[in-house]
Amino acid sequence: MTSRVSLPSWQALQTHAKEMKSQHMNDLFAADTSRFDKFSVQLPAMLLDYSKNLVTADTMEKLITLAKECDVESWREKMFSGEQINKTEDRAVLHTALRNREQTPIYLDGENISDCVEAALTKMKAFTEQVRQGKWKGYSGKRITDIVNIGVGGSNLGPQMVTEALKPYSDDSINVHYVSNVDGTQIANVLRPLNPEKVLFIVSSKTFTTAETMTNAKTAVKWLTSASFDQTSVAKHFVAVTANKENAVAFGIDEDNIFDMWDWVGGRFSLWSAIGLPIALDLGFEKFIELLEGAHDIDKHFCETELENNAPVILALLSLWNCTFLGAQSQAILPYDQSLHMLSAYLQQAEMESNGKSVSWHGEEISYPTVPSIWGELGINGQHAFYQYLHQSNNVVPADFIGSVESVTPVQGHHETLMANFFAQTQALMAGVNEEQVRVDLTVKGRSKSYIDKVAPHKVHKGNRPTNSILMTRISPRSIGSLIALYEHKIFVQGVLLQICSFDQWGVELGKGLANEIQAELESEENIRPHDSSTTGLINFYKSTLNKAD
Ligand code: F6P
Repeated sequence: MTSRVSLPSWQALQTHAKEMKSQHMNDLFAADTSRFDKFSVQLPAMLLDYSKNLVTADTMEKLITLAKECDVESWREKMFSGEQINKTEDRAVLHTALRNREQTPIYLDGENISDCVEAALTKMKAFTEQVRQGKWKGYSGKRITDIVNIGVGGSNLGPQMVTEALKPYSDDSINVHYVSNVDGTQIANVLRPLNPEKVLFIVSSKTFTTAETMTNAKTAVKWLTSASFDQTSVAKHFVAVTANKENAVAFGIDEDNIFDMWDWVGGRFSLWSAIGLPIALDLGFEKFIELLEGAHDIDKHFCETELENNAPVILALLSLWNCTFLGAQSQAILPYDQSLHMLSAYLQQAEMESNGKSVSWHGEEISYPTVPSIWGELGINGQHAFYQYLHQSNNVVPADFIGSVESVTPVQGHHETLMANFFAQTQALMAGVNEEQVRVDLTVKGRSKSYIDKVAPHKVHKGNRPTNSILMTRISPRSIGSLIALYEHKIFVQGVLLQICSFDQWGVELGKGLANEIQAELESEENIRPHDSSTTGLINFYKSTLNKAD
C-alpha cells in the first residue's frame, strides 16, 4: 500500500501550503465576497461555515482530489456494509447500524444485524417504560427515582454528555447520576444523598473487565446489600450493558437484566446502543429514538452527498490541512451553548483515542504530523481564561465554534450577548488588528505618542487563525444526534486520509497492565520489585508515608 506522501495530490498540497502560509484571510475575504456562500454547507439541523480557514477554491479542490485518491468513498462503503475495517481487531465497524432507522438489512456472518438492533431497542423500550412508569420496584417495593450509571470512557462520556446536553428535555421523573472515576470520592459523593431502596445501577462496560468500573460496581453492591441485608436485592437494583454476558452473570447480574453490546460497536461510538440507556431513562424512549434519527440524518448526508459538499469530509480535510500541512498541533472545541459543556471532553476521547496514533495501516511509522490534541471549554468561560493564547500566542490553534440560533432555555437578553461573542470572536480570530489600526484607534482616543509607542506592539492581533462555525438551529435530541454523528464521520475520514487504524486503542493497554502489577505491590507488605528509580521512589514514598500524613 502506497504511503500518502507519494500521492500526487499530497505533494501538490505540500507545495500549495508553502504558498498559502504567506496569505492572510483578510485578503482572501476582500478578494472574494462570496466566500461564505462558497465555503458553507447547510445540513439537517445546522449550518457549517468553514470560510474562516486559510483556504481558497483551489485549496479545497486539491483537498477533494486527495480524498478521492485516498478512496474515501469506497472506505465509507466498506464501513457501512460491515467489512472488517477494524483490521487489528478483525472487526466490522457498524455503530451506524444502531441508528439505521430505515432498518435496511445489514448482514454480518450471515446474520441480519438490523434485527439484533431492533430486538435490543425493543428490550430497552420495555425496560425504560417499566422504570419510568414506576412499575419496576426496588427490594422494598418502592419505585426507582435515581439511576447511577457506572462506566468509564465510551461507557460514560457519550451518555453523560448527551444527558447534560438534553437536560431541558428531561421531565425530571428520574435523576441520572454518573460514576466513572475509581477515586472513591466520586461514588461516595454520588451515593451519600441517595436512598438504596430507590436506586437502580447500570453497570456499563463493553468488556466487563475494566478495573475501575468493576471496583465501583462492587462498591455499589456493598452499599445496596448493607442496606437491604439481602443478596437477592441485586437483581432488582442492577442491570448491565455489555458484550461479555458471561462476566456480567458471574458478577451476579440477573441474565434478564443484561443488555447486549456487540464487538462491531467501538466503545467510543456506543452511545447509540444500550450504553445510551441512561439517556432513554432520563428523557423517555421516544426522545432516544429522535437522537438516533438525528444521527441517521447525518449518516445519509455522509453517504449521499458528493465529497465537495460533504460536511464530515470537509471537516476531516480541514483538520488535515491545518495540522499536517500548515503545522497546527492542537484544536479547540468551543461551544457557545451551556448544553454542550461536556462536548470537548467527549470529542477528546472520540478523536484522540481513534486517531492519536503514529503507525500506519501497514504497520509503518508515519512520517507526517497526524491529528491535533483536542481541548476546549465553554466559549464564554474560555474568553476569560485562555482566549488570550488563541489570539496572540505564536501557536495557531484552529477552533470549532458551536452555538445555537435559538436557546432552549431563553432568558431575556442572554442569548444575544452569548451569540454576539461567538460571532465577534470568530471575526477577531480571522481578521485580527494590525499596528496601523491600533495606532489610529489610540490616536482617536487622544493617547500620547509615547503611550502609543509603548503599547501598540502589544495590542496587535495578527489574526489569520482558522475557525469552523457550526450553528445549530436549536439543541434537541435530533440535532445532538446529528452533531455527534458529524464528528464521528469526520474522525473516520481523518483516519482514512492519514492511514490510521481508527477503531483500536492499543495505547491504553500498557498503562492498564502496569497499574495491575503496581496495585499488587501497593497492597503487599513485601519490598517492591525494581522499577526505574523515579517509579520506585514514588511507590516507596507512598507506602512509607501512608497513614502518617497530617
Ligand atoms: O481504556 C480505554 C477503553 O477501552 C475505551 O476504549 C472504552 O471506551 C473504555 O476503556 C471503557 O471500556 P469498557 O466499556 O469495556 O469498560
